[in-house]
Amino acid sequence: MYAKGISSLPPYLFAGIDKRKEEARKKGVDVIDLGIGDPDLPTPPHIVEALCHAAKDPSNHRYPSYEGLLSFREAVATWYKQRKHVNLDADDEVLTLIGSKEGLAHSVFAFLNPGDIALVPDPAYPVYNNATVLAGSTPYSVPLTEEHDFKPDLESIDKEIARKAKIMFLNYPNNPTAATVEKNFFKEVVDFAHENDIIILHDNPYSELTFDGYEAPSFLAVKGAKEVGIEFNSLSKTYNMTGWRIGYAVGNSEILEGLRIVKTNIDSGAFQAVQIAGIVALTDSQDSVKRNMEIYRERRDIAVTGLRAAGVEVKTPKATFYLWAKVPSGFSSIQFSMFLLERTGVVVTPGLGFGKHGEGFFRLAFCISGERLKEACERIKRLNL
Ligand code: MLT
Repeated sequence: MYAKGISSLPPYLFAGIDKRKEEARKKGVDVIDLGIGDPDLPTPPHIVEALCHAAKDPSNHRYPSYEGLLSFREAVATWYKQRKHVNLDADDEVLTLIGSKEGLAHSVFAFLNPGDIALVPDPAYPVYNNATVLAGSTPYSVPLTEEHDFKPDLESIDKEIARKAKIMFLNYPNNPTAATVEKNFFKEVVDFAHENDIIILHDNPYSELTFDGYEAPSFLAVKGAKEVGIEFNSLSKTYNMTGWRIGYAVGNSEILEGLRIVKTNIDSGAFQAVQIAGIVALTDSQDSVKRNMEIYRERRDIAVTGLRAAGVEVKTPKATFYLWAKVPSGFSSIQFSMFLLERTGVVVTPGLGFGKHGEGFFRLAFCISGERLKEACERIKRLNL
């Protein structure tokens, strides 16, 4: 009954976890959910107010434009200039998205024919691999290993595959490993893309979720990057707006045009009132982002200290709200996450769910209060791992 693409997909990782969580809750378990990276902190009130106001204006009730309000795209361009030192032409170098997930998935349809190759990091956010499969194309897994600081070893990619590949997904600060990079790494990526004629799709939704003075560079801040790629970003994680579905892609106008053409045939743009609230998010005071990061830093430290006290090996990340921790010996990542849920009610994401090179790790998202995080770590400690 289903198309080949759907039949060959694994169940969507977070949907599967949701199901197991619900089953546990139904049994009366006090579930502590560290599974998904979905901010528990509310959207700042000034952004919510802007939405309420804009939602009352009938001119926002009609179809929005496909590429998004020019004023939203200008706000994005200004934000990129200020935050990332990247010049963008709001007219043709910014495209509004209904969340960056939507744009990432649809990009594949703009560039890949059935059988074409996409270079996909492993482990990674599942959408890169799964959208490629849905398009009937072939994901080629590029391992992100601890030995290589969870960055792809571009040299080790098979030369013929590199020549054949049409697109490459990248994502730093990284989900799920929380790895970060400096601009030098992006220079290597630009050279690699030029040499092999590959389009780079850099996913950057955690760009503002940084700690201890680290600043996450934009891929586009490197010379030549705009010739080879685009970057996806989102208001979801920066402004606690995951439910609002508003993001954008920026960079090479020809690449964006491909994505725009796909989108004009599939969706009808992002609700204008949400875009107007998005302008407020991007252009008003950024104090709420700083406050969020204080909270996340505190939680990160609670979780790192608590996990280490429980005998779990984990590094302190410089960005994201994830910890990428080692699965204790004797378990696979899936066995360990099931064991944790059954014995402690704590939900974590098994590394294998992000790709085969994620095996040996589990991901914990600190989108939950410090108190609950402490409780989760205490429960894990009592297991005497
Ligand atoms: C995650 O947990 O990896 C993300 O929150 C999922 C998403 O951004 O769609």
